[in-house]
Amino acid sequence: MQVIIMPTKADASELAAQIIAKRVRKFADSVIGLATGQTMERLYARLAQKHQEEGLDFSLVRTYNLDEYIGIEPNDPNSYRSYMNELLFNRVNIDLRNTHLPLGMAEDLDRECHLYERSISTNGGIDLQLLGIGKTGHIGFNEPLSALKSRTRAKALTPTTIASNSPLFKNPEAMPKRAITMGVGTILEAKSILMLVTGESKAEILAKAVEGPVTSMVSGSALQLHENCTVIVDAGAGKLLQGKDYYNWIFQNEPEWEEFRGIKG
Ligand code: GLP
Repeated sequence: MQVIIMPTKADASELAAQIIAKRVRKFADSVIGLATGQTMERLYARLAQKHQEEGLDFSLVRTYNLDEYIGIEPNDPNSYRSYMNELLFNRVNIDLRNTHLPLGMAEDLDRECHLYERSISTNGGIDLQLLGIGKTGHIGFNEPLSALKSRTRAKALTPTTIASNSPLFKNPEAMPKRAITMGVGTILEAKSILMLVTGESKAEILAKAVEGPVTSMVSGSALQLHENCTVIVDAGAGKLLQGKDYYNWIFQNEPEWEEFRGIKG
């Protein structure tokens, strides 16, 4: 795992956008795993801007989102499908048929989860999986005690997650209490992982995920098992990390990061 601590949220989002853009420029038909949440808003705005200003080409890119709420229609303003269409897909030249989210309205949820997994493997697996982290340590909606080998499935949300996300709903009571999410095992199969975490409110859970023991109580800690995982944080989220100086030294000195040094958001 490589942790990169950027001064501000804007700088962290810009670095994440440049890493994704580099991948898409090199491999036009990349399969990218996408995440939702407030943390990703600026990153998606930067990707859309790179499309508009630099011609970043999404025409062959295929995407798989981590999760979707159960029981809301894709065109509901609070669905993750609406979030993605609004913040990214409608702003770039991606073919909507190449964008995938689990269907939260599926009658047979087990079948939907199975089909989602099958679609990911049929497309050759995920090349680069983008992740945020929730206050409970969840990646996707893998709440505490999600098996480290779990696959895409329906998952009940914790009261902490409901309290974090319900204010985003017009009627907070209407927030679903369950979601379909890729499993921790599904996420770990991505060829590379890029996690973006910003804000002091995430400092404690980030330190647990990155430097604490690997435990299903903090799904994000499973990323320690992945051989190609980069975690980009701002100073606020990185505040409690013990190894800060070492992580900074690597970013400033290892050749693989040279092209990304000095990035400003
Ligand atoms: C959401 C998503 C996660 C996301 C996390 C953090 O509910 N299911 O994929 O990483 O919770 O969200 P935010 O960026 O709004 O803090």
